[in-house]
Amino acid sequence: MSVENNAPERLTLRKPDDWHVHLRDSSILPFTVGHTARQFGRAIVMPNLKPPVTTTAQALEYRDRILRAVPQGHHFDPLMTLYLTERTPPSEIERAKSSGKVHGVKWYPAGATTNAEHGVQDIRRCDRTIEAMEANDIPLLIHGEVTDPTVDVFDREHVFIEQELSPLLKRHPRLRVVLEHISTRQAVEFVTQAPARVAATITAHHLLLNRNALFTGGLRPHHYCLPVLKREEHRRALVAAATSGNPKFFLGTDSAPHLRRDKESACGCAGIYSAHAAIELYAEVFEAAGALDRLEGFASSYGADFYQLPRSSELLTLERRSWTVPSLLETQQGALLPLRAGEPMPWSLVTADTTA
Ligand code: NCD
Ligand code: ZN
Repeated sequence: MSVENNAPERLTLRKPDDWHVHLRDSSILPFTVGHTARQFGRAIVMPNLKPPVTTTAQALEYRDRILRAVPQGHHFDPLMTLYLTERTPPSEIERAKSSGKVHGVKWYPAGATTNAEHGVQDIRRCDRTIEAMEANDIPLLIHGEVTDPTVDVFDREHVFIEQELSPLLKRHPRLRVVLEHISTRQAVEFVTQAPARVAATITAHHLLLNRNALFTGGLRPHHYCLPVLKREEHRRALVAAATSGNPKFFLGTDSAPHLRRDKESACGCAGIYSAHAAIELYAEVFEAAGALDRLEGFASSYGADFYQLPRSSELLTLERRSWTVPSLLETQQGALLPLRAGEPMPWSLVTADTTA
């Protein structure tokens, strides 16, 4: 990675990967895959479709649909995941492993988030399947929030760590896990002190925003996601973790498109779309923390190492050139508002078009 000086005009890094993204399916794929493939060489693709991707056969078909949506001139490798249910048999884990295309199994506590209604009520009922994951060395990717309605929504992640994650790691001493889209100081502390088999992804929006962003001048549905944004002290802990150079923390955008009409509604959907500007947003965070030289590890190296995949041999260049995020993006299924809609961005991707 080259960083010219304290305030560089250009930043060249190993091509990053996105270790947590929602691409959705069908006619919106050219839109989502187009954005993600522009800057990421690979992405861990979440399985919370309707119906969810619960089998290797479904994951491989979904992978083919994604590959057909990759724009010409881009290399993009979708890394597939399975949606864990209480009926996922250990044999499915064997199939996933031997496919070579499935890189994780996702645990959604039932009802925790978008399309999580088929998720797991009691993770102990999955013990045999998780033993197969240990034996085959397939990581468990975790949406780490309890769903107990008596637990305050802002406490659901740290209560999950105490009540669910700690016991799970004790029951399964070889299991590798990724605590996804962490949002609290407690998650940072837990992952930091845990063994090397425990890692975490961090989104750009949890690094940039605190929970005030949900209420600035009125209710802001486009800043609503799960886990919900937390207090400033938590955002600071996430920035410190992401920029620390600790390889347990790596990039996962959790870019999660929902159409404008579904966000601006009496019961708005959870999810923030950031794939249109992801690496540029992370660059902003790292620059503000005085840690641009650590962006490459977080964005392009540590995730590949954890997933036991080679680091990319391609490069990506950013330059300090201001642009404005469109106030609305048209997808094949309707309009959506991306993160930073209508607002300026200091960093731009240098694409073939801008270098020519
Ligand atoms: C995600 C989605 O819309 O699929 N939403 C979100 O708020 N992050 C699901 C998830 O990752 O929780
Ligand atoms: Zn997600």
